[in-house]
Amino acid sequence: MRILGIETSCDETAAAVVEDGRLILSSVVSSQAAVHGPFGGVVPELASRHHIENICPVVAGAMAQAGMDYPALDAIAVTHGPGLVGSLLVGVQAAKGIAFVHRKPLVPVHHLAGHLQAPFLAPRAEVPLPAVALVVSGGHTSLFEVPAEGDFRLLGRTRDDAAGEAFDKVAKLLGLGYPGGPVIDRLAEGADDRAVEFTVARIKDGKADFSFSGIKTAVLHYVRREGIAPVADPAHVPRQVRDLVASFQRTVVSALVRRLRQAAESHRPASLLLTGGVAANRLLRRESARAADELGLPLFVPPIALSTDNAAMIAAAGTVGFRRGARAGWDLDAEPHLPLG
Ligand code: KG4
Ligand code: ZN
Repeated sequence: MRILGIETSCDETAAAVVEDGRLILSSVVSSQAAVHGPFGGVVPELASRHHIENICPVVAGAMAQAGMDYPALDAIAVTHGPGLVGSLLVGVQAAKGIAFVHRKPLVPVHHLAGHLQAPFLAPRAEVPLPAVALVVSGGHTSLFEVPAEGDFRLLGRTRDDAAGEAFDKVAKLLGLGYPGGPVIDRLAEGADDRAVEFTVARIKDGKADFSFSGIKTAVLHYVRREGIAPVADPAHVPRQVRDLVASFQRTVVSALVRRLRQAAESHRPASLLLTGGVAANRLLRRESARAADELGLPLFVPPIALSTDNAAMIAAAGTVGFRRGARAGWDLDAEPHLPLG
């Protein structure tokens, strides 16, 4: 079974062909990071316009890379939410057009179901289920229980900012550019992560919920108090800024790993999954691996190209949906606030 996946929920235009939900035949991602960089975050209208420019070459590229013709596809899977409405509409409409012309089934995919499917893509071994999964991206920070492939039960989520959003906002505040996660990851390596003591709010009633807006504000107050100026030259980042971002990163990562560990202890899964753009973070990978080791559980983390937004994960989740009979009609619309689990 070969499914074309299309993803345009944020600022990546992506298309991919996946066989049997496991084997990636092609995956093309056109990033708009350079477009949004100067603004320190995604500008929704610019994102939609760039998706419009990029969608046809990206889909054509994925089909060519896979050596496929449209008639050979079994279905078209597309992210219909959640995300930026104007961005989602471009992918949804492109998918509809292809499905309509080539008389193929159209399969709706939830963006987070895509991230949650990424650990199942080859060359991974089979993932033992049930799993506890942490999805951490620019738009989401959620813990799920995954009893079976394609089934998700929400255990907890952020009450305010997503972890990636906190990385991006702290980087913007310090003049470090967008996206902030990779820059902070790099600058923190070798810096003193105990230099500044930050805390992340512990939410008592919501069991596994997160909150990251407080630490962002704490960083802002620290920067003002210490009179830290935005970095002028990315090649020469002052020691004080490197220590600050390392301390911020350590605090965010330990809050994430603490919740992951607690969820594993109370739900006793057979494996742990870590996915989403922030799963690219090296400290988070190391600390999650350590926690998994101590819990005696296998940890599955997709390679970085499959952790950040891509369409292979959408095609893979679309395959699970397709097998279960999920179909969209021609009225499929963008759903900016679609819930999962
Ligand atoms: O999954 P993704 O590509 O898009 C969304 O669905 O949001 O995640 C993007 C987020 C951004 O906030 C970016 O700063 C963060 O992932 N990110 C990282 C790293 N690489 C990307 N955060 C921390 N460390 C990284 N190495
Ligand atoms: Zn994402």
